[in-house]
Amino acid sequence: MTDPVVPSVAYAVRDGIAVLTVENPPVNALSQGVRAGLIAGLDQADADPAVSAAVIIGGGRTFIAGADIREFGKPPLQPYLPDVLKRIEAMQKPVVAALHGTALGGGFEVALTCHWRVAVETAQVGLPEVKLGVIPGSGGTQRLPRLIGPKLALDMIVSGNPAPAKRALELGVIDQIVAGDLLDGALAFARTVVAEKRPLRLVRDMDEKITGTDPAVFEEYRKSIARKAKGFLAPWRCIDAVEAATKLPIDEGLLKEREFFFECMGSPQRKAQIHAFFAEREAAKIPGLPDDVKPKKIASAAVLGAGTMGGGIAMNFANAGIPVKLLDVSQEALSRGLGVIEKNYATSVARGSMKQEAMDRAMKLITGTQHFEDIGDADIVVEAVFEEMGVKKEVFAKLDKVMKPGAVLATNTSTLDIDEIAASTKRPQDVIGTHFFSPANVMKLLENVRGAKSSPETIATVMAMGKQLKKVSVLAGNCDGFIGNRMLHGYLREANFLLEEGALPQQVDRALEEFGLAMGPFRMGDLAGLDVGWRIRKGKAHLRPRDERYSPVADRLCELGRFGQKTGAGFYRYEGRDALPDPVTEEIILASAKEQGIERRAISDEEIVQRCMYPLVNEGAKILEEGIAIRASDIDITYLFGYGFPVYRGGPMFWAEQIGLDKVLATIRGFHKIHGKFWEPAPLLVQRAEAGKGWNDR
Ligand code: COA
Repeated sequence: MTDPVVPSVAYAVRDGIAVLTVENPPVNALSQGVRAGLIAGLDQADADPAVSAAVIIGGGRTFIAGADIREFGKPPLQPYLPDVLKRIEAMQKPVVAALHGTALGGGFEVALTCHWRVAVETAQVGLPEVKLGVIPGSGGTQRLPRLIGPKLALDMIVSGNPAPAKRALELGVIDQIVAGDLLDGALAFARTVVAEKRPLRLVRDMDEKITGTDPAVFEEYRKSIARKAKGFLAPWRCIDAVEAATKLPIDEGLLKEREFFFECMGSPQRKAQIHAFFAEREAAKIPGLPDDVKPKKIASAAVLGAGTMGGGIAMNFANAGIPVKLLDVSQEALSRGLGVIEKNYATSVARGSMKQEAMDRAMKLITGTQHFEDIGDADIVVEAVFEEMGVKKEVFAKLDKVMKPGAVLATNTSTLDIDEIAASTKRPQDVIGTHFFSPANVMKLLENVRGAKSSPETIATVMAMGKQLKKVSVLAGNCDGFIGNRMLHGYLREANFLLEEGALPQQVDRALEEFGLAMGPFRMGDLAGLDVGWRIRKGKAHLRPRDERYSPVADRLCELGRFGQKTGAGFYRYEGRDALPDPVTEEIILASAKEQGIERRAISDEEIVQRCMYPLVNEGAKILEEGIAIRASDIDITYLFGYGFPVYRGGPMFWAEQIGLDKVLATIRGFHKIHGKFWEPAPLLVQRAEAGKGWNDR
């Protein structure tokens, strides 16, 4: 027996107009109850002779924010969304959608099917399905082009980005912006429509904007997204569906759209992208924090160190409207840092991604200083000075003296021990790691690192700050490299070993970029600068066991002054920004292999992917077992937002589960036999794989 459907739509009549209020908190997702409730409400409105029109509105914070994503992948339950839309189109009376909050996906498709749409100014409309690995499946790709033309529709559908109400009005997506109360405005609009006896207007009947569309529009669009959408399925199907809208009668177009929709729905990409959606929201939840703990308010900030990282971090605060003082003891470094910030903003303005006024506002919020006394009243200070324990300790001792009581003292260290840094203050409860990723004004990840003594309030504060700065925050425990960089060690090690065993940088990079990484390890190394890693390796050389395998290739490149793109050569040589294979590198690789007695062989792309990616999974399992990451999905989020892991694979831990942890383990065991101790399987991986379980199964 199936559970009875509980309608989640309230029905009322106001001055002869039916008001259907969707009540399905938090975001009024189109669950079965909402779908059934809408049909029931429309039936009632149509049947009641005292009702002249209907308004559909959302209760609570938003109109309908889309399909219920939790129902994705499960057998669909009746009534389906297209049934609801058919019912709207069959209405004998005007139906007005009244929008506030976010009318997204299926919610926007409901609105597009209504005869008219009104919205408050703060409302947003959009079709974000592509971000979840699917396409709009209930007419979005057929109706939107009919309303605004194929080009603008492509922009909205392929990017998935919402349009604010004002823009939607300009485009003709909505018919009116309501200034005061939304329901009053929508009722007034409906009354006018009734009084004027306006013919019911259905988007399905509007063909003017799509008639005679040049097919070249679609070819050009495909070319324009080729790089960004490489490896993805949904963006391409979005274009196919909009193209179908311009070629087929609407009912055939709707069938075509449905076909593409189900193709995407059945793909592993959809599963991965939905995993990423929920994982992102899950990462914000920290188990064990007392219920009554409240984040401190961050209304002012300070950043220590005006280098690339410090400057980028300061920009984050300014972009969020938070005044920030940038401190560097060297006047020269400070001027340079402020200059770089200004240049970065100016580039955004020139590119059109930022308005001049926004730049002026941001620049006004950033003040430079050389004196610690000037920053004492900031709510948070983020230290981004030279990555060396001695320097950090000295700086934190100073901060302890000048910062007001209760200020959060954060360090942007990417590897150093948070507890040791905290111990140089008398307030370790206020000390925490906030690890930004370079370029800090662009990368979305914020890896917060809790020390042994960080207080719940301090933890809550930096997690909330991430949201304020529009970042995705993950909470990590304190260990060498935390979550992200600790996992990266094995990845880079294997990439380098593969060179000696038979591959070349261009082959390794290509294989991993085809896997979906934004950039392979060698191009990435060249871009970041090889000298940084070189310095760290030299510093730690005495700690390396003598019998441990070690690839000297990168060191030798550095010894030749080849630090990467900035010196014109690294693993590659550079013509402008183009990376070209370089015989010098090949010579160094061959010599290194020879010295170590390694016989080079042909290496498959599959082996490259496994050798570089499985260390992420194996180390990830150790990190999970040690409690450095709270959950497997936090590791995925770290890699998706900080390391360019392809979102359509869901992150390394999710990806491994999809392959099957037993299969991953078998391959790791094989590598262990050949390559030795680096491939010791993580106990948690063994335990999960042998029990036939995933990371989260009990
Ligand atoms: N289906 C099911 N649950 C949803 C949902 C959906 N379409 N959209 C949001 N939620 C859930 C979230 O998982 C979260 O649950 P939690 O509190 O248990 O973690 C809760 O609703 C609030 O969402 P959140 O994203 O934290 O709130 P927000 O105010 O920052 O953003 C939205 C709200 C609607 C803009 C955002 O959630 C969103 O973009 N949702 C997806 C919309 C979408 O893609 N629709 C098309 C589906 S085809």
